Amino acid sequence: MDLGLTGKTAVVMGASRGLGAASARTLALEGAHVIAAARTVADIEKWRAALPADVQGRVEAIHLDGADLASIDALADHVLAKGGTDILVGNTGGPPPGVAAEITRDQWIANFAPMAANLFHFAGRLLPKMREKGWGRIVTIASSGVEQPIPNLALSNGIRAAVLGWSKTLASEVAKDGVTVNIVMPGRILTERIGQLDTANAAKQGKTREEIEAASKAQIPVGRYGDPQEFADMVAFLCSARAAYVTGSKIRVDGGLLRNV
Ligand SMILES: NC(=O)c1ccc[n+]([C@@H]2O[C@H](COP(=O)([O-])OP(=O)(O)OC[C@H]3O[C@@H](n4cnc5c(N)ncnc54)[C@H](OP(=O)(O)O)[C@@H]3O)[C@@H](O)[C@H]2O)c1
Repeated sequence: MDLGLTGKTAVVMGASRGLGAASARTLALEGAHVIAAARTVADIEKWRAALPADVQGRVEAIHLDGADLASIDALADHVLAKGGTDILVGNTGGPPPGVAAEITRDQWIANFAPMAANLFHFAGRLLPKMREKGWGRIVTIASSGVEQPIPNLALSNGIRAAVLGWSKTLASEVAKDGVTVNIVMPGRILTERIGQLDTANAAKQGKTREEIEAASKAQIPVGRYGDPQEFADMVAFLCSARAAYVTGSKIRVDGGLLRNV
């Protein structure tokens, strides 16, 4: 299937590792010019260097601290100076674990900015060009927790609910301008983040990380964690010309983890 991504420009946030890196790499391999942004530019350069030479030339590694509004605005200025972007993959770091009863007001506010408010602001700055061109894709990486809250991840569950509401509202506002807006929900895809959460849960429950992993996999019908490439393939499809009639949706990539229909 030709995804029609050749010549498109994509900005991918949180692109130094994990799901963001896999999404950025896949979009580049599919023909897009990718502006890959994160705090650790050296890690972007590492995966970029492993790509075929012609694809490397389509990847620009750039610094972004999504928690810092000035950094978000600097990236928006940079992208707009180049004529804007066709695609935005909104991805942020995950927040620390914790139970809802104990999260402080300061923690809510500190994590809402990078995970939600700054993303909304960034998308808002890039949207007018997409609407003007009559073509755009906004894909936000969220979590299965937006449908089924995950124990001990109160910040993630709470803040991503706001991201879901924003995405769905925006989708209706810009649909007539050829801009689609969707959410992708990873279940348990094997990245550093999942390793850290398993380690934290092991310490909390007095178990080994292997025991936590085995219990986690037992809840996934497919019987294993997902591969970041399997997730990135869905992101690339939603970013593609072929997905023009998919908008306002939230798509699971979870090996069947969520049991509700
Ligand atoms: N993996 C899963 O199965 C899963 C499941 C549910 C939800 N999620 C969520 O999906 C998102 C991606 O997950 P992941 O597993 O790929 O996480 P990850 O391995 O921890 O990677 C996070 C990425 O976000 C970047 N990042 C973090 N803080 C940033 C900041 N302030 N500014 C700019 N970039 C920042 C990191 O780069 P730098 O550190 O270089 O900035 C990195 O590239 C997270 O929000 C995670 O909570 C993942």
